[in-house]
Amino acid sequence: MVIRRTTEVDVLTPATDNVDPNRIPKRTLYTGRTIPAIGLGTFSSDRVPGEEIAEAVLGAASVGYRHFDCASVYGNEHLIGRSLRQIIEGGVRRSELWITSKLWNDRHAPQDVAASCEKSLADLQLEYLDLYFVHWPFPNNHPPGCDVGSRSRDAKPYIHENFMKTWRAMEKLVERGLVRHIGTSNMTIPKLKLLLRDAEIKPACNEMELHPHFQQSELFQFVRDNGIAPIGYSPIGSPSRPDRDRTPHDTVDVEDPVIVKIAQRLGVHPAVVCVKWAQQRGQIPIPFSVRHAHYLGNLGGVVSEPLTNEEMQEVAGIDRNCRLIKGQVFLWKSGQNWEDLWDLNGEITRP
Ligand SMILES: NC(=O)c1ccc[n+]([C@@H]2O[C@H](COP(=O)([O-])OP(=O)(O)OC[C@H]3O[C@@H](n4cnc5c(N)ncnc54)[C@H](OP(=O)(O)O)[C@@H]3O)[C@@H](O)[C@H]2O)c1
Repeated sequence: MVIRRTTEVDVLTPATDNVDPNRIPKRTLYTGRTIPAIGLGTFSSDRVPGEEIAEAVLGAASVGYRHFDCASVYGNEHLIGRSLRQIIEGGVRRSELWITSKLWNDRHAPQDVAASCEKSLADLQLEYLDLYFVHWPFPNNHPPGCDVGSRSRDAKPYIHENFMKTWRAMEKLVERGLVRHIGTSNMTIPKLKLLLRDAEIKPACNEMELHPHFQQSELFQFVRDNGIAPIGYSPIGSPSRPDRDRTPHDTVDVEDPVIVKIAQRLGVHPAVVCVKWAQQRGQIPIPFSVRHAHYLGNLGGVVSEPLTNEEMQEVAGIDRNCRLIKGQVFLWKSGQNWEDLWDLNGEITRP
């Protein structure tokens, strides 16, 4: 397999050897199948060209990654597909890989679900996906890269009956063998309770924002108690997200004194501490990077000396309840604010 060489030097990420994929921790899902407990994110908030991300997928596989978090809306699955083909032709068996994709919000209509999945499969050059998510529970489209102030004229709230029609179409993908697992993303406890009540095939995973300053302890516990594995996105606190996704109140995980102190003890970048903490806590982090030293450092972090119990407790104590991906573009009527999307009072926000 092609191994991407780099001349990049990162003094905070010591040179680590490639990681034997057999050493990467796994989580067992309710189906009995296992998923690598760290994956590579493939969305760069429009910052990095798709070709570079596809190259990172290749490089990441060569250092030991076997899990890749993709989505049709990231606009790069056709490029990542070429990398996956090369990885498989290079000797990695398909069964050793874990490939996730996601149904975008403008494809919730039941008749669109299979076509969307088939398109991702064709782009990724695969016969099946390990996991297919409903990316957001809101059936609203907005142009990639749009401002948080942008609103769709057709925006709709969460309507459970409609979501179940989408979910039934997702279940059919499992029955057809196109996907091995289905899952949810950006959900809340009240929405998940209804889904768990009505689903024939339960979600295997829930992808949610998780980092030291946004630990979502209640939802995290809820999904685990219900046999759903939490996959944590933006595990480093998405430090390079575009300005349109920032507010003055946002905090910075990698600058937190507790994270920095642990990083100094271990001689790693604070990002690696965030990833280690995530994996050790029991979520499956999917950090993004196109830099060899960074993605290798993150992978090395999950197979090296664990954080101490005291450090785990210290990180548990720095939660700032700071949601970074607020989802403003999904608001469906005037006078709302982003908190309405997240059912903060324990009930689904009324249409
Ligand atoms: N389901 C959803 O709705 C959803 C939403 C958001 C994201 N996601 C998924 O989650 C993935 C990750 O989230 P994210 O990209 O928002 O944020 P993230 O992984 O928290 O942060 C990525 C940033 O951290 C930097 N970084 C990574 N490793 C590093 C290291 N070892 N040292 C220093 N810097 C490091 C990267 O910079 P460099 O490039 O310079 O290394 C990159 O800019 C996405 O790619 C996507 O697959 C899903």
